[in-house]
Parts: sequence; C-alpha cells; structure tokens
Amino acid sequence: MVSKLIDQDDRFLGILDRLTTKSIDDYYNPYKLFEWPQSLPAAMWWMSPELTTTHGTEAAERLTQEQLYALSRHESINFYSLNVHGIRELLIEVTKRIHTTGFETPSEFFHHFIGEENEHMWFFAEFCLRYGRKIYRQPVGASVEIPRSHVESLLVFARILIFEELVDHFNSRMALDERLDETIRAINRIHHQDESRHIAFGRELVTVLFEDVKRTSSDEELKEIADYLRRYLTFSFESLYNPQVYRDAGIENPLDLRRELLESPARVEFERSVFRKTSKFLEKTGLI
Ligand SMILES: [Fe+2]
Ligand SMILES: [Fe+2]
Repeated sequence: MVSKLIDQDDRFLGILDRLTTKSIDDYYNPYKLFEWPQSLPAAMWWMSPELTTTHGTEAAERLTQEQLYALSRHESINFYSLNVHGIRELLIEVTKRIHTTGFETPSEFFHHFIGEENEHMWFFAEFCLRYGRKIYRQPVGASVEIPRSHVESLLVFARILIFEELVDHFNSRMALDERLDETIRAINRIHHQDESRHIAFGRELVTVLFEDVKRTSSDEELKEIADYLRRYLTFSFESLYNPQVYRDAGIENPLDLRRELLESPARVEFERSVFRKTSKFLEKTGLI
C-alpha cells in the first residue's frame, strides 16, 4: 500500500509537506494572469528552433525561412495540444485514486495537482484555440489501456512522470528564449514553475511504488514493465512528429517528411536530449 510506505518514509513526508505549502504560497489565478494579444506575429519563431522536429536535418535545408517559421507555429500548437490530451489522461487517473484506500497520504497533494492541471489544460487549450484555431487530435495509440494488474498504479505514475518531464524540457527552454513572443514565454514559464513541484513529487512516488512492486514481482514481470516504459518513451517522443502539422505548414508529402525526420541522425540526438534526465532517473531506480 502506497500510503503505508510513505508514512514510514520521513524524507518523503517532508517533501510532501514542503510541496503542498509551496502550491498554496505560489497559487495564482490563471484566468487573470495572462494577457492574450489579438494575434501573434507570423514571421517569427513560435518554438525555439532547436526544439522543432526539423532542426539539424537535411529537410530543414530545403525549407525557406518563412516555411520554418510556419512549421514552428504549427509545431507549437501541436505541443500545447499534446499537453491538453496528456493532462486529460492524467487527471482521469489521479482523480480515480484520490481518497481511495492506499492513497490517503498523498491525497492532500493530489488536490493541488488536480487543481493546477485543470488550469494548465485551460491555458494550453486557450492558446491553441486563439492562435491556431484548433486543438490537434490526440495521436493514435495514446490512450492505450494500461494493463489492469497490481502494477497499474506504478505504470500510471511513471507515464505521468515521463510526460511531465518531456514537457518540462520544452517549457524550461522556451521560458528563457528571447526569440519568442512574451505570451509564449509566459505560459512556458508558469507551467515550468508548477511542474517542478509535480516532477519532484512524481519521482518520489514512482520510487516508492516501484519498491513495492519489486517485492512481489518476478524478473519476467519486471522486464515487461521496463519494455512497457521504453515503448511509452518512444511513443511520447514520436508524437512530436505530427503529419497534420507538416500538412498545415504546406509540406506536400507530410508522411514522407515524418518518416525522413524520424529516421534522420538528428532524431537520435534530439530524443537523447529530451529524455536525458528522465532516462537517468529510470535507470537509477532500475525501472529500465
Ligand atoms: Fe501541467
Ligand atoms: Fe503537472
């Protein structure tokens, strides 16, 4: 039981306390916080160029500056759309667990988590609808059911952590990127602030959940968990390469471009940098 393990862990209890207090102290009203200009200039980066899927590839050399800007605009809408879908999924899972047996101790923090995520989903959706006039559809395979078993909660929170760390890689960089409009920097900055708490919590929770699972699982089962998480890492990363984005940016053969980009040497380096911290954590705990 998760709560029992947390209750014996003074360090984790201290962290929970500190994070909860910080959530209360840093609380803001998202509906008043942001300024939403009528429009954002088209002829500029909407996403740091180093974080776009064509960066460092041969394909980028075939595109004009105007096309690269357009691509960054659609990729940015795709990125916030992925956030909307990811948050919906994690809200469902955390809401399912709050105040249920085993989750008594983290439930207080879950209240802040759920409240903050609802607000994140609002400002990401707002950005997409205002400046992109749409939310991109959820990538196929995203809502693949997590197998129902005694490891279900571990997989749920490991997925949430992977998703939040991926997003944070982008947020923390774009918050500081002076090439981006202030509206874009602000949503990335605010999200990064809240996510630092969620990630700190997630790492502790996943560690405890895994300790519990390890005691009752065979080597074969542990290998299945590792394989599942590896698949999820790849899937999450590849969802950044959305053919509909390439189509919207005026690329003629979007599926061909997607394949070319996924197979390009730049992809390997990009994926490694996005998951550098995450992989280190998952390896250190023995999850992968
Ligand atoms: Fe969030
Ligand atoms: Fe979060």
